Amino acid sequence: MDKYRIGIVGMGTMGRNLLLNIASHGFSGAGFDKDATKVRLLEQEGAGMQVKGFVDVTAFIDSLEKPAVIILLVPAGKIVDDVIVELQPLLAKGDIIIDGGNSHFTDTTKRVDQLEAVGLHFFGMGVSGGEEGARYGPSMMPGGDKEAYQYVQPVLEAIAAQVDGEPCVTYIGPGASGHFVKMVHNGIEYAIMQLIADTYEIMRVAQNWGEDKIQETFAEWNKDDLKSYLLEITADIFAYKDTDGTLLVDKIKDEAKSKGTGKWTTQISTDLELPIPTIDLAVALRDLSKYKTLREKLSTVFERQKNDKPVFKDAAFKDLLKQSYTFGLVTIYSQGIHLLSRASEVYNYQLKLNEIARIWRGGCIIRSSFLELIRKGFEREAGLAHLFLDPEVSSILKYTEQSVRTLVAQCITSGVSVPAYANTIGYYDAIRSAELPSNLIQAQRDYFGAHTYELIGKSGVFHTDWAHPSGNIPV
Ligand code: 6PG
Repeated sequence: MDKYRIGIVGMGTMGRNLLLNIASHGFSGAGFDKDATKVRLLEQEGAGMQVKGFVDVTAFIDSLEKPAVIILLVPAGKIVDDVIVELQPLLAKGDIIIDGGNSHFTDTTKRVDQLEAVGLHFFGMGVSGGEEGARYGPSMMPGGDKEAYQYVQPVLEAIAAQVDGEPCVTYIGPGASGHFVKMVHNGIEYAIMQLIADTYEIMRVAQNWGEDKIQETFAEWNKDDLKSYLLEITADIFAYKDTDGTLLVDKIKDEAKSKGTGKWTTQISTDLELPIPTIDLAVALRDLSKYKTLREKLSTVFERQKNDKPVFKDAAFKDLLKQSYTFGLVTIYSQGIHLLSRASEVYNYQLKLNEIARIWRGGCIIRSSFLELIRKGFEREAGLAHLFLDPEVSSILKYTEQSVRTLVAQCITSGVSVPAYANTIGYYDAIRSAELPSNLIQAQRDYFGAHTYELIGKSGVFHTDWAHPSGNIPV
């Protein structure tokens, strides 16, 4: 009987498509799922290719070459543990399990230790690009057991998206670094999506633009230096008509759902005390959108004045908006990458940020032409403390800064909601301030809670009885 090079557990859309991708690059693949319908679908879609489906787990494992390589593409959480428990007795020392789902990185850390203890190789691998990416080239972020990665490296490099002849996959680092990087990728994804949603709001509410103009603008931006997957799909969405000839997007409920990776990014950023406010805001806005009834009620209490005339003069507006979008985009990437560099120090992930930017240039949801600029920035200076310090990035920010100020100021004056834009300029203004008013916060904390404070140019910590001035007392 022929043995298969790679096995995949989970024959949902992602699993099936990844297996077909593997097979179309000349590697044989076995797929396992308890659901016979999904297995049948694999065999139909993979007719004529070196793929085989299984509903029996023992037969599936027996069909694999040794050491067995099994990629899990199942929903994150308990299911991953359940699958591992089911597979473990059938596996031999040296076999490799790869978790290709969106697992929480702390779960991956536990699983790495747990499986290492029983002689199995395990690594967590973020896979981005959705259904299309899985089939024709995703971006993959494998981290953990390096030896195991090297064993499957030829397969992963063959099936990954390719940009300038380079595969969008690289060894990310030890432990759960692969899943950590994928989580931050998703945080960035949420924030860019919110920035595009703000852009749409400005177009339709501030400028009263119709669908054609909205569509054309997104499509136009996607042709030049702003080229990105999220702009491309946005342009497509504004071209998609329902059967009655009207835009489908206009019929979709304005309540955004999520599966949790954005929220995890926000949670870990507060644990690491590394601010990523635009990502936090994007998570919050999805949650806020769910309060539809409350929003409807509040919209009658605080009625928004209608703009009879467009808020901006059309000639200058297009440039203003494009420059503001550029500013926002660069700021969002910078926040996400800042979080990666902090996590790399804390968890000793040894992340190579130039490499991460490189593998995000293709296949993944946040791919855009800016990632080449980011890659170059970290190639020039691997230890760059913040992307804003890169000369090319800083010149983009300086060039576009005034536009975002004008855009936000006028939108706010006219009552148009632009939370992501307002947040990016707020972040910029705070992080480029050598002096912040945080000294006052320290004084207040000390006043009501005797939490102490430090003094400029004087060592030690101090406390003051603020209500009865008698000087600061060293603690
Ligand atoms: C990707 C995506 C993907 C993500 C979904 C849904 O990189 O292919 O990030 O992994 O899980 O797009 O995410 P939400 O349901 O949280 O929006």
